[in-house]
Amino acid sequence: MTDLAGKHLVLGLTGGIACYKAAELCRGLVKAGAEVQVVMTMDAARFITPVTMQALSGRPVFDSTWDAREPNHMPHINLSRAADAVLIAPASADFIAKLAQGRADDLLSLLCLARPIARVPLLVAPAMNREMWAHPATQRNMAQLAADGGVLLGVGSGWQACGETGDGRMLEPPELLEDVIAFFAPKPLAGRRVLVTAGPTYEAIDPVRGITNRSSGKMGFAIARAAREAGAEVTLVAGPVALPTPRGTTRIDVGSAREMLAAVQHHADAADVFIATAAVADWRPDAAAEQKIKKDGSGRAPALAFVENPDILATVASSPRAQSGALFCVGFAAESQDLAANAAAKRERKGVPLLVGNIGPATFGHDDNTLLLVDAHGAHELPRAPKLELARELIAEIVRRAFA
Ligand code: CTP
Repeated sequence: MTDLAGKHLVLGLTGGIACYKAAELCRGLVKAGAEVQVVMTMDAARFITPVTMQALSGRPVFDSTWDAREPNHMPHINLSRAADAVLIAPASADFIAKLAQGRADDLLSLLCLARPIARVPLLVAPAMNREMWAHPATQRNMAQLAADGGVLLGVGSGWQACGETGDGRMLEPPELLEDVIAFFAPKPLAGRRVLVTAGPTYEAIDPVRGITNRSSGKMGFAIARAAREAGAEVTLVAGPVALPTPRGTTRIDVGSAREMLAAVQHHADAADVFIATAAVADWRPDAAAEQKIKKDGSGRAPALAFVENPDILATVASSPRAQSGALFCVGFAAESQDLAANAAAKRERKGVPLLVGNIGPATFGHDDNTLLLVDAHGAHELPRAPKLELARELIAEIVRRAFA
């Protein structure tokens, strides 16, 4: 992935134990194609050496206003003019206070103040003890920073190096990377709400068994991420899958098809786009047994009666909002053969403007896929690519059809 190709970032490190995570973040940014110029405060250099950061970024680190390497002796001007963004990770409570006050007594705070504010955004990933984070002074400084146009990337929660547990940890490097990539993406879905279903459903037979399928949820999760990157407010209704929640999305975990339908119906009224990627079980056991079904010694399996599950996509697509065009519905079709004909027939049957066909065994659990987009005008293939790339292309196709 070269999501950050051509981007030039100043990665600023300030004093805090989370500096150890900045090494991995730097590596991730470079791997994503960014040119990374590391600038460290003196306190940051007590936690991690400039040698490490130089090796990972491939560039000498700057840590002093008085650095004589720049011919004009103005690293604060040169570094900030060359950047597409300044990312402070970790940002200590003290450094945030400095930013809020416009102080400039070291190279990093000086270049933040000297940056062309309209052209070079400032992204801040705070890292501190939970008491420092909750302190009114820190919260006041954060509010001031946001009011001055700073982009606050939030904090994580959990165990802290000091032994306490709470809010204030720096976000993990993959989370920060996802946020930085999303920050640079165009925002054609700003102000729109997108509802996505993903993964399989689980239909209980008894308290310990059930029927499900091999959907991994990867495509739906990639679509939720791509919609968020494009600026949408995203609700992701997920069946049982082992995937991290895409950053900045609201996830609702469900089990059965009926639970999925209830969650979808709750959110569909507010949505502008509904994308049904879930592999919903077509049938469920008529009545789940209350206790575990035991072998009866006859050698025969128990007879299970099945009933059909509600069709979530067809239900939403037949609603007045979908029919009027206020809610743009997109279906998926997991087929095993004859994709074009099956997908076209399914689009008609479900009553949706756009249906995305794929071959089930070729996609379930895989990181890449091929998609066939079928609408009223015909079919168009998105060739094999990583699911995130396909998700971004699909979001662009939806924007073109629903909002152009
Ligand atoms: N879908 C749904 N609710 C169901 C079944 C399917 O919302 N009970 C949605 C899926 O999320 C997908 C589309 O309908 O967007 C097609 O799913 P698929 O399983 O391919 O189709 P089916 O309707 O189940 O048709 P068939 O099994 O006959 O191919």
